[in-house]
Amino acid sequence: MNIKKIREDFPILNQKFNNNELVYFDNAATTQKPQQVIDAVSDYYQKYNANVHRGLNFLSQKATDKYEEAHEKTAKFINAEGIKEIVFTKNASESLNLAAYSLGEKISSGDEILISVMEHHSNIVPWQMLAKRKKAKLNFVNITSDGRLDLDDFEKKLNKKTKIVALTKASNILGTINPLEKISKTVKDNGSYFVVDAAQSVPHTKTNVKKIDADLFAFSAHKMLGPTGIGVLYGKEEILKEMNPFLTGGDMISKVSLKEATWNKLPWKFEAGTPNIAGAIGFGEAIDYINKIGIENIEEHEKALLEFGLKKLKEIDKINLYGPEKEPRTGIISFNLKNVHPHDVAQILDENAIAIRSGNHCAQPLMEKLKVDGVARISFYLYNTKEEIEKFVNAIDQTKKVFGV
Ligand SMILES: Cc1ncc(COP(=O)(O)O)c(C=O)c1O
Repeated sequence: MNIKKIREDFPILNQKFNNNELVYFDNAATTQKPQQVIDAVSDYYQKYNANVHRGLNFLSQKATDKYEEAHEKTAKFINAEGIKEIVFTKNASESLNLAAYSLGEKISSGDEILISVMEHHSNIVPWQMLAKRKKAKLNFVNITSDGRLDLDDFEKKLNKKTKIVALTKASNILGTINPLEKISKTVKDNGSYFVVDAAQSVPHTKTNVKKIDADLFAFSAHKMLGPTGIGVLYGKEEILKEMNPFLTGGDMISKVSLKEATWNKLPWKFEAGTPNIAGAIGFGEAIDYINKIGIENIEEHEKALLEFGLKKLKEIDKINLYGPEKEPRTGIISFNLKNVHPHDVAQILDENAIAIRSGNHCAQPLMEKLKVDGVARISFYLYNTKEEIEKFVNAIDQTKKVFGV
């Protein structure tokens, strides 16, 4: 991988802030966009802006082709059967809300839903709402002391009442990669539906939805070089067929009378109203970009950064690191400096043009489990370098001096 050349594709990285080159370490929140993606979005607006699935004019035809092509590229990228299994939403959160709302119709009073304490709020709150609506019980798989999914606790809490299991493939704080391929058979043998939050895994590792054998599988384009406002819900065809739409309106309809309506074919049944056409086209371009570099190469590069980053951070005195000691884990490192609030750490780093994230990272139950109010987090992507990690470590030294740590 030629990182120098890759970085040239990202205009935002070639700017200076406070006379410093930008170090962007907040990729778990959102990633930067290459010029190719920016151009694809701009091309749509400049050259063939039109609505999709509506007009017979040539502009609408081209927009429709490109919009559907983005579904095809997504299907191929995660090894789905085809575009009927790929629903575009606005983000992973909407995908998980769709899952909880529509699959949730299968839940009755007394049923159980099983998630884990390491979930992002987007994979907690929709299930909480569903459990309240249906008078069902929401159970939580615990984590081990080294930040992994507690598989013994999982086996204990999975029972015949468990109708849905919804787990993250990778934690946005601990970096833990959960062995979902291993446990999906147990979930299926139990007769439960399996929903996966893949927001932090699809951008970083090769995905094969058939191997994970998930019924529904959610992720966001903006965390993988694509535009904001476009997300994906993959669903097995037979499951999506069984589910009712989440949102209703234009384009998701086959026939409407004054009394009732029937639904369009998959995936359009789940895409009500004018979609984010530019976002979808930009996402298609982002997938092309990742394919050109090679997702395996990206994964290997991030692994090297993670290893280097962990080694450097472990050498720092008075630092707490969170997450498993060893692989498998993704390119995320969360930490706290003793007696320094993570927001203060983020602020000093920001003065050095190093963008990180601090706070509870939309995972308050996990914060409670870790007994902290928040953590500082760095997260890598294909354009980051070891030199940037060295700059970051120097800035941490400076932060420690400022706060007398
Ligand atoms: C693990 C995880 N799930 C879900 C989400 C929600 O993604 P989005 O904000 O794109 O809906 C995030 C975002 O950070 C995440 O890290």
